[in-house]
Amino acid sequence: MVVTVDGPAGSGKSSASRLLARELGFAFLDTGALYRAIALAAQRAGMQDAGEEELDAWLEEVPLEAKSREGCFLVLLDGQDVEPFIRNEVISQLASRLSALAPVRGHLMGLQRAAGQAGDLVAEGRDMGTVVFPRAEAKFFLTASENERARRRWRELAQRGQPAELDEVLADLRLRDRRDSQRSLSPLRPAEDAVVLDTTGHGLPEVVEILAQAVRGRQWVLAQKANETL
Ligand code: DC
Repeated sequence: MVVTVDGPAGSGKSSASRLLARELGFAFLDTGALYRAIALAAQRAGMQDAGEEELDAWLEEVPLEAKSREGCFLVLLDGQDVEPFIRNEVISQLASRLSALAPVRGHLMGLQRAAGQAGDLVAEGRDMGTVVFPRAEAKFFLTASENERARRRWRELAQRGQPAELDEVLADLRLRDRRDSQRSLSPLRPAEDAVVLDTTGHGLPEVVEILAQAVRGRQWVLAQKANETL
């Protein structure tokens, strides 16, 4: 079974999806980390401003992998876990900019779908329910007010030792929201069959519980249908 969780930056989708996967015993795939890893590789190779044709050829050489380890897909670049290098504002904006380009999106499609074929999966991102896994059995779209999303991001940065001004965090978030939702390829939007959840004012455990109950409900319905056809 594939569960998709999409939503804008700061909607709480990463933390909620990770915990949901753990609760359900599913693998977890953070597809934003894949786009961030491409941004990191582009930054290291000086390819930030390359044209689409040049990017297309270069991407073939990028040693990017999503490797399943203890229920999570680790994103590796040249065999190295990228996590310590991708959670900063420069990479956030570069990932958002590069993710609007066809070669980048096309390149990551196979990696993402392969994760869905490996077993039960919770996949989070921007276009999981609309484009990558359009036939997923359970789809969610998490959102929250702009101010709350900026506050969450601001707290997260402080916890990572990267303190920032709240109004700057809000401005960066708006820029990324606009770019991610207005691009022509796979823009951020809820799938028609997604359950939309506004998490403003709701704590993480509550959100995870709502998601887990909805997935269990869906599993029950699917099991009933399977029994009917026996
Ligand atoms: O989820 P995140 O903030 O780590 O994602 C970083 C950027 O990657 C985001 O601004 C847009 C892009 N992205 C995307 O286009 N499609 C996805 N499925 C996931 C992320």
